[in-house]
Formats: sequence, structure tokens, C-alpha cells
Amino acid sequence: MDAEIIVAELTADRTPAVVELFRRSLDLPEDAAEAPELVDTLWTRAAVDRPVVALGAYRGAELVGALVCSVSAQDPRLGYVDLVAVDPAHRRRGAGRALLSSAERTLAGLGAAEVLLAGNPPHYGWPGIDVRYTPALCAALALGYQQDRTAWNMTADLSYDGSPALRPTDAAEARLAGRGVTVRRAEAADLPALTEFARGTFGGAWDAELAGSVGREGAGCHLAERDGEVLGFAAYGSSRPSWFGPMGTAPAAEGSGIGGVLLRRCLRDQRAAGLPSAQIGWVGPIPFYSGSAGARVERVFFLYRRTLGG
Ligand SMILES: CC(C)(COP(=O)(O)OP(=O)(O)OC[C@H]1O[C@@H](n2cnc3c(N)ncnc32)[C@H](O)[C@@H]1OP(=O)(O)O)[C@@H](O)C(=O)NCCC(=O)NCCS
Repeated sequence: MDAEIIVAELTADRTPAVVELFRRSLDLPEDAAEAPELVDTLWTRAAVDRPVVALGAYRGAELVGALVCSVSAQDPRLGYVDLVAVDPAHRRRGAGRALLSSAERTLAGLGAAEVLLAGNPPHYGWPGIDVRYTPALCAALALGYQQDRTAWNMTADLSYDGSPALRPTDAAEARLAGRGVTVRRAEAADLPALTEFARGTFGGAWDAELAGSVGREGAGCHLAERDGEVLGFAAYGSSRPSWFGPMGTAPAAEGSGIGGVLLRRCLRDQRAAGLPSAQIGWVGPIPFYSGSAGARVERVFFLYRRTLGG
């Protein structure tokens, strides 16, 4: 390890410098562009639900790298590295290694027995390491991490009027209305019913993502209901403005076209916000998103883990 590197915990007053560092150090432009939201979600907003620590790597007085790590809110034995990058001008000189080792010590101190280089829902920037961050894959292996799962996003093209992702929803909504189903934008007053629906139908994992979507700037949620009963929802923007999800349709209502309508309503919002494409994050059913929005599998992520003290 490079002896000149010092790692220290970052405090909130360093936020502008940390955002600037990630803006120039995340090599993929779609990530660099969302550096402010990534820092806000993973450092500030995530801290409401779980322990979060941000570390800075300094060479002299200069901040040359940063890392945000956290402990799972569900399982305190699991620590996560949520965000890490080193300034391109300072790579291969031990800053990444120093940050990762310091994060491992910090997470162990918080009770973690294992560290994952993976998304820690509900607040995550990526499901794992995008395979195009190849130096990060190399660093993970060099530092003793083992590849665990694979995950992927799908991209919905919002860049032109005729895109299948922007197909009108009027006809499908009229058909649903004929069966007593209303589709509309969710508002703050809908949150309790939405949360109850998501918990009851899919387990408890989406509370925070719903709260981070409904009525928040740069985010949103649409729902379908019949006689005041929620039948499905789709949300976007809770972690990153360009990311879509989660969504869910009641099993009894599957196949009625509700899911496609909810999906495309969200994508339409995202386009209206000026986004050229949307990332359907950490997917599930490829044929559904391909059929409903012409989305294609694009970003692929490897997830890594390492047992501490081993
Ligand atoms: C991943 C990253 C943080 C590594 O930072 P770094 O300061 O260059 O890492 P280190 O110098 O401590 O390297 C540690 C080890 O990782 C491996 N490694 C790092 N970069 C590598 C590369 N380009 N090729 C091969 N191995 C590499 C090496 O084994 C290295 O040890 P060595 O230099 O003694 O051989 C940096 O490349 C980066 O910021 N990338 C862009 C952002 C990113 O990918 N973030 C994670 C995904 S979200």
C-alpha cells in the first residue's frame, strides 16, 4: 500500500467536494451525471434507515478517493460498499486498497461479519459492479472478494417519439376503465395504502422506495385501483432519477394490461423530465419489459462478497 495515503471519515461539510470527486471519477458518463443524487441517496438519505459511513482517501491535503459503506437494515451481519471511486489521476497507487481495507475495519466495528460489493436496498446506486468498470472487478478479486451473483438492468429508449417505451396508454386505460379499474398518479395520501399493498402482496422490502418515489422531486409513482383497492403500482427515481422501479401488480390482476400501462406512465414522466433513456433497475421479468416497453438488457453487474476475519 502507498504510504502517503491517509484515510479519514468524511463529514457532511465535505459533500460538495465528494460530489465533485465522483463526478470526475465515475468513468461511465451516466453515473458521473448522477453523482449529486448518488451521494445524496447513499450518504444522506440512507442514513435515516441504516448505519452509513463515508471515508475519504487523502494524498497530502488533496481528496483523491472516496467510499460510502453501510450495514444492512435487515441483517446487521452484512456490510456493504455502496459507492467507491478514485480520481483517474491517482489510480494504481493504493488509494482503492486503502479505502476498501478501512471500510472493512469500519464495518467489522459496526458488527458486520461479511462485506458485499453490491447494492444494499432500498438505497442503492447499482446492484453490483457494472462489468464495464473492469478495474473495479480486478481490484475486487485482488482484495480477496469472490464473485457471487450476476444482475442486470434493462434500458428503455426515451429518445424519440415512436419508441415502444412511449407507446400511448389511452386505449388500454379505456379498456381498464370499462372493468372498473382507474389508473392515476399516486399522491402522498396514497402512501399508507400503497405500502400495505406492497407488503401484503410482495413482502416488506419496498416501503422506503415507495416513500422515496411518491411526490418527491425527480421521482414519482402511478397506481391502479378498483373500488379503492390498490391493484398495482409502478415507481421511479427513488435512488436515481433515471432509474425505474419497483413495480408490482396483484396476482389476481396479472395479464390485464395494468403493468404495461403503469410502466409506460412512469417512463413518460421520465422523458418529460428530459431523460433520453431510463434504466429498469435490477430486473426481474425480461419478457415483460421487452414486450411492454421494447427495453433491452444492457447494463450487467457482478456482485462480490468476502467474509471478514477469514
Ligand atoms: C476501482 C478503483 C476504485 C480502484 O482504485 P485504485 O486506487 O486504482 O486501486 P489500487 O491502486 O488500490 O489497486 C488495488 C489493486 O486492484 C487491482 N487493480 C486496480 N486497477 C486495476 C486495473 N486497471 N487493472 C488490473 N488490476 C487493477 C490491482 O491488483 C491493484 O493492486 P496493484 O496495483 O498492487 O497491482 C478505481 O479504478 C476507480 O475509481 N474506478 C472507477 C470507479 C469504479 O469503478 N467504482 C466501483 C464501481 S461503482
